[in-house]
Amino acid sequence: MSIRLFAVLSVVLCVGARGDATFAQHGAASPATSGWNADLPLAEAEDTNPDPRIVEVNITAKFASVEVAPGKRVNAWTYNGGLPGPFIRGKIGDRLIEHFKNELDQPTTIHWHGVRVPIEMDGVPGISQPEVQPGESFTYDFVLRDASLYWYHPHVFSAAQVGFGLYGALLVEDPDDGVGIDDELTIVLSDVGFDRTGKLESADSGGPAGMVFGREGAYLLVNGKVMPTLRVRSGAVQRWRIVNTAKSRFFFLDLDGQTFTKIGSDGGIQEESVTSDAMLVTTGERVDVLVTPTGKPGSSLVVKAMLYNRGYGSVEYRAVEDLFTIEFTSEPALPKRALPKITRTITPPSGANATPIDIVLTLPPQDANGQSEFHINGVPYWKAKPFRANLGETQLWTIKNESDWDHPMHLHGYFFMPVDDKSQPIRPMQWKDTVNVPMKTTARFLVAFDERPGQWMFHCHILDHAEGGLMGTVVVGDVPTVEHIHKTGG
Ligand code: C2O
Ligand code: CU
Repeated sequence: MSIRLFAVLSVVLCVGARGDATFAQHGAASPATSGWNADLPLAEAEDTNPDPRIVEVNITAKFASVEVAPGKRVNAWTYNGGLPGPFIRGKIGDRLIEHFKNELDQPTTIHWHGVRVPIEMDGVPGISQPEVQPGESFTYDFVLRDASLYWYHPHVFSAAQVGFGLYGALLVEDPDDGVGIDDELTIVLSDVGFDRTGKLESADSGGPAGMVFGREGAYLLVNGKVMPTLRVRSGAVQRWRIVNTAKSRFFFLDLDGQTFTKIGSDGGIQEESVTSDAMLVTTGERVDVLVTPTGKPGSSLVVKAMLYNRGYGSVEYRAVEDLFTIEFTSEPALPKRALPKITRTITPPSGANATPIDIVLTLPPQDANGQSEFHINGVPYWKAKPFRANLGETQLWTIKNESDWDHPMHLHGYFFMPVDDKSQPIRPMQWKDTVNVPMKTTARFLVAFDERPGQWMFHCHILDHAEGGLMGTVVVGDVPTVEHIHKTGG
C-alpha cells in the first residue's frame, strides 16, 4: 500500500502554483519559509479514484514499529503502518470510499467521529455493523456533507485500540469558506505509553484507579512525533486545525503567551471568532485557530501543554509539558497585520418545543471488590436502556455532571448546539459533537434529529470512562434496537 509523504502546507505547494519561499498571502509578502513544516508532515492517504468528486482510499489496520523520536520506537497499532493513520482529505460534497482491512489479531471497526454518516457507516459493532474480524474487510462509503476537521478511530475496545495508535484525521474542506490563509497545518495531538523496548503500556495499567482517572501515555505526540519543530517567519499568519485524538489526555495549549483566534470547532466555522491566550482541546474535540507566532528572527519558542484540572491527578505533582518548537527563520519579521474577519451565519434549532432529556453522570463509591463504574442516570452502559427520539424531533439535553471528573460527552452522527440555562445559544454559536462537561457542572445543548434513523451512541470521550460505564444510545426513528450494548462494544 503506497502512501506518499505529504507536507500539510496544502493545496498551495501541492499544485505547485507558487514558489517556495515567497508566495503572496492576500497581497502580503512571503509568509512562509521553505520547509517550514517539514518536521510535522502527515502521511496522506492515496486517492485511487480519478473522479475528482470521489475520494477512494485503502486503509489497513496493522501492527508496525514506528519511530516517534530519533532512536525511539514504539510497537504501535497503526493504520497503514504510520502514526497517526493516513490523512484523508476531501471537499464538501465529495463521496468517500474506504476499503478497510483488518490485519490485527482482534476485531475492530472504523467510526467517523463527527461525520454525519448514515448509521450503517457509523462503525459501532452490534448496532451499525458487525465487527470486522482479523483478516476481514469492510467498505465504508458515504458523502462528506459538512466542512470541518474530523477523525477516524475504532469502536471496539476503543480505549486500548485508540491508545495504541489507531487514529487518523479527515479534513473536509470548503473551498469557499473565505478564510484565505495559505499557511495551513493540520495538527493531530495524542499520547502513547511504552517502555524502552517499544512495548506498549497495558491498556488496564493502574487497575480501577487508572480507569477512573483516564490513562495518559507519557509521550506526547504532535503528528506522531515527540517535540517536532515548525520553522516559520516571524509574523506570518497560520491556520491550525487541531484534533485531540488521545484516549484521555486534555491539551491546554500555550503559545508562549501569544494569542489564538478560534474561528471554528467540531462542526466547521463558528458564528464569530474569539481570541484568547490559551486553547483547551479536550478529547475528541477539534479547533480551527489562526495564530501569528512572533519572535526575534533566529530565535525559537516552545508550544506547551499547560496543566488543566480535569480531576484528581491531572495537576497534582505534575508539570507543564513541551509539545513542539517554533523556530523563527532569519528573515525579517513580517509587519503585524489584522486577521481576516471570519463569520458564519448559523440558524440555531428552536428550543421552544424541544423535548427535555435529562442525563446525570455519577461515580458511585467503589464496590466491595474495589471495582468502580461510572453511571448515566444510575446505571453503567451495560444495564442502560436507550433514549428515544422521533425523526425531525428537537431535544434539549441537560447533562449534569455530579462526579469529580470532567467528561467530554460525544454524540454520534449529529451536531448539537450548546445553550445556556434559558435554552438560548451560547454565543458565538458553534456546532459541536463533543462538549466538555467540567466536574460538578451542568451543560445543555439542543439537537435536531434529521432524516437519518438509527441507534446512535453517546459517551464520554475519555475512553477509559466510556468503557467504565459512561456510554448510552439514542434510538432515532422506528428502527430495530439493541436493548443493552454489550460489553465489548466500547
Ligand atoms: Cu470518537 Cu464513539 O467516538
Ligand atoms: Cu469521562
